[in-house]
Amino acid sequence: MDPSRDNPILRFATFWWGLGTFLIFAMILAAIWIFVKSNPATLEDAAAQPRYATKAKVDEAQKANISQEAIDAAMLAVGKKLLESKPAAVELPAQVVPGSETAKKLAAAPAVDTSAIDAAPAVPDAPIDPAVMEAGKVSYMLCGACHGQNGEGGAIAPPLAASEWVTGPVSNLIKIQLRGLIGPISVAGKEYDMPGGMAALSYQTDEQIASVLTYIRNSFGNKASAVTPAQVAALRSEVGKPQVTAAELIKP
Ligand code: HEC
Repeated sequence: MDPSRDNPILRFATFWWGLGTFLIFAMILAAIWIFVKSNPATLEDAAAQPRYATKAKVDEAQKANISQEAIDAAMLAVGKKLLESKPAAVELPAQVVPGSETAKKLAAAPAVDTSAIDAAPAVPDAPIDPAVMEAGKVSYMLCGACHGQNGEGGAIAPPLAASEWVTGPVSNLIKIQLRGLIGPISVAGKEYDMPGGMAALSYQTDEQIASVLTYIRNSFGNKASAVTPAQVAALRSEVGKPQVTAAELIKP
């Protein structure tokens, strides 16, 4: 018999010692838990602390500048304005969408009187300004892509050399620049009807259109009066109208 193992008093004391030790450990753990529980509880929280602090600072600064009530009131006012506002029709000719209501309205507008534009020049054989010819030559590079660099015409556009349209009424030429051209057209005795026709080149300034038209009227063997920016400006209201047809133009 083992005197220590079988002694009931010893066993009784050992039991309480064991329980006591356990309780002490439990209390130490509880104390650690209470201290560690105080924030930040996790590593993520610890990392988030500076962000919370920054947000609080920003909120504070915003509140000092403009109150939430003011923001809410402004939102309401803007929302009401948006609901009440109606979309306005585009009236600026250069922004008119082909086929739109405004384009149709423009097309139905009475034709502009071009007699002043087509009147014979004050000085019939006035010399052509070489600077204007130079500027026109530069602009012509684009036209030449379709009409040929020497105005000889090609598979996609009729010739400008010896074209009665080119040396004819100035208003025709300006309208072709501002509106483009579509449908059958007879040039120097030949019939043309190019698919899609010629697109409007109305993005050019009055000076650019005047100089390129002066250039084609005095190049490739053509000879005619210069076109002035004022003549182009007088027809700006044509912009936005559908592509013009030869039938609508003055017969050259
Ligand atoms: C993308 C090709 C293209 C470009 C670029 C172009 N045109 Fe045209 N042009 C045409 C077509 C196609 C026609 C004939 C339209 C038709 O069949 O009704 C035409 C017709 C003309 C006519 C009347 C017919 C004639 O031959 O006399 C003139 C004038 C004219 N263009 C001038 C110009 C000028 C000036 C420029 C440059 C600022 C220019 N075009 C740029 C394709 C073009």
